[in-house]
Parts: sequence; structure tokens; C-alpha cells
Amino acid sequence: MSQRKPIKKAVFPVAGLGTRFLPATKAVPKELLPIVDRPLIQYAVDEAREAGIEQIIFVTGRGKTAIEDYFDLAFELEATMDQRGKDMGVLDPTRATPGDIMSVRQQVPLGLGHAIWCARSIVGDEPFAIFLPDELMIGAPGCMKQMVDAYEEVGGNLISVLEIPEEEVSSYGVIAPGKEVSDTLTEVTGLVEKPPVAQAPSNKIISGRYILQPEVMRVLEDQEKGAGGEIQLTDAMAKMIGTQPFHAVTFAGNRYDCGNKTGFVEATLALALEREDMGAEVRAIAERLLAQ
Ligand code: G1P
Repeated sequence: MSQRKPIKKAVFPVAGLGTRFLPATKAVPKELLPIVDRPLIQYAVDEAREAGIEQIIFVTGRGKTAIEDYFDLAFELEATMDQRGKDMGVLDPTRATPGDIMSVRQQVPLGLGHAIWCARSIVGDEPFAIFLPDELMIGAPGCMKQMVDAYEEVGGNLISVLEIPEEEVSSYGVIAPGKEVSDTLTEVTGLVEKPPVAQAPSNKIISGRYILQPEVMRVLEDQEKGAGGEIQLTDAMAKMIGTQPFHAVTFAGNRYDCGNKTGFVEATLALALEREDMGAEVRAIAERLLAQ
């Protein structure tokens, strides 16, 4: 069981322009927009750390250096807070072991597959995780921890999946499910990126978390453009099926698609309602607003 190479590295593609959230994202990266009081990227990094991941690799782009600054020391802020006797604990989640936060640039947005390929030199010859921070996964344990547990059992490649209404599948990567290993683990026999509804092999979509073997980088090297004229990670993964184990983990928890505005508002509301320090107050506000 534990002979599997552990998952210590995770790639976070964060080069996107966030056009759906303009003008908010004109000067602030989408990944730093807060859900209550934590930026979206913080939730994904916390989920990674909980799963035992130590090295965080951002695939970033121009105008997005604020993400790296966020995980750096904020000298003036900390000195001032210290002087004023403020609780510095709030900054703990932003701290990283020196050298464990890395970034590479994707110069041109050629697609998710291309973004992942940009991290190949840092990933090297190890299995690695991928987090799409737009997908906010809230669970106990978190989604990646659930996947790492499954990885210890079956090895190979894993993706997290969830069922959605059939008419929405064309916005996502969709799996063709094979044999069920357990209630939450299924073999994957095929993958299609953004298929027309009529051609979708199921209503189970890839929900933004992956554990992949390093061979995917070799496949990505020659990967041609796919759906939307982009180099798709899904197409490269599809080529690995049959050469290596490939499984889907059905995430037990709540998922919020923060890549769109309503999903973002839903996540904000859901997480605020769960908070001990403000849940009751937010519930009262929501009830009052709904009664208007
Ligand atoms: C990407 C992936 C897709 C996946 C989705 C999850 O698509 O290509 O397979 O289902 O993320 O959010 P994008 O949202 O970048 O178009």
C-alpha cells in the first residue's frame, strides 16, 4: 500500500485573466477574490496541505504577481501589527516554508493542458496533484485528502468527479465510467472535454482535482488543440487510459463553482452561514432580505 510514491507537489494553474469577474479582476487576480475573508486560492492551498502536499507550484501570468506576494512575508504590515499588539495568527495560513512556493509563467494562454505542461521541469519525475482553484471543494476531510487515500489504494491517475444535471455537461470534462471499485471509486474508461449533451458518455464531470503520473507531461508535449481551440488536459489524460490505472473519486462534500458569479455568491453565503462568528447574524440578514 504505502510503496506508492507520495504526492508532495501540486500545480495550481492561475494564469487566467478572470474576464467573467471584470471589472473586479482588472487589478486583482481572480484567485485573490475573497470568500468571506479568505482568498479563493487560500482554500485550495489549505486543502493541498491537509493532503500532505508540501510544494506549491503556481503557473501564473502577467499581472498576477499579487498571488506570490500573498504567500510572502508582508514586512511593513507585520511590523505595524506587531507594534500595535495585534494578533498575527490571522496571517498563519499565508506562511510557507522557504522554497516551497514556486512559480512559472505561462506566456500565452493556450489552454489548461499547456498550463500544466509549463510546470514540467519542477514536477520532474514524480506523481503530482493539480488544483483548479475556481472549484471550491469543502469537505472533511477535504477533496484532495480523499483522493490521496484512494491513490494509496489503487495508484496511477485519479480525478475527482461529481454528477450534475445532464444539460450542463458541455461546460466540463466528462468521464465514461467503468467498473465500480467501491461506492466512491470507479474506473475511468474514457474522457471527453466539453462534449455536446447528446454525445456525453455520462453526467459525471471532472471537478478540478487531479492526481497524475508524470508521463502526462510527455503526452502534453505533443498534444494538439482540442475543444475551444485549446490544448486540453482532458485529451492528454484520455491517451493515458489503458496504459496506466485511471480512476474517478466521487467527492463526499460540497462543491461550489466559483468560476461563475452565482457560484461565487453561493459559496460566500454558504461559508458565511457556517461560520461560528457570524453564521447567526448572516442567517438573520438573509431571512430579512428574502422576506422583502
Ligand atoms: C476545466 C477542465 C474541465 C473541468 C473543469 C472543472 O475546464 O478542462 O475538464 O471539468 O475545468 O471546472 P474550464 O473550466 O477551464 O473550461
